[in-house]
Amino acid sequence: MLDIVTLGADVLRMNAEQIENVDDQIVKLGQDMLDVMRFEDGIGLAGPQVSVLKQIFVCQVHQNEARVFINPQIIATSHELLPYEEGCLSIPGVFADVKRPAAITVQALNERGRPFKIDAEGVLARVIQHEMDHLRGVLFVDYLDEEVKKKLLKIYDKKMSRKVGR
Ligand code: NI
Repeated sequence: MLDIVTLGADVLRMNAEQIENVDDQIVKLGQDMLDVMRFEDGIGLAGPQVSVLKQIFVCQVHQNEARVFINPQIIATSHELLPYEEGCLSIPGVFADVKRPAAITVQALNERGRPFKIDAEGVLARVIQHEMDHLRGVLFVDYLDEEVKKKLLKIYDKKMSRKVGR
């Protein structure tokens, strides 16, 4: 199974490249990413989190169908912003409220390389925006107030060093 990298890994801070060709390798990558996301009880996972610097992410919210997004682009956002508590498989155990547009329209290619467009709101809009940030090296903690971010990451570092020490 693919390994998920955590905070501190350079790859989480880099820009992902466009996918020129949705070939068998990309199809397999999408499936593997869905597998590891489900295994880790996540609702979204982006390429850089599994050390693949490509414009791909997967998500599955509630009982909705699992989706693969390739070369995604946000083409519209609502003016309304909403706070919502986010977490990330690459920063386990850290959760914080982030304000983002409540609704978005996204276009992307699916796992067969076919273009699709979706209007998303609620948790789905949230996950898509969070995962798209991963494709440009942005993490949800970057939206937090400096003091809050420092405090949360201190707690996180302590927890992680204890884990490593075991
Ligand atoms: Ni994340």
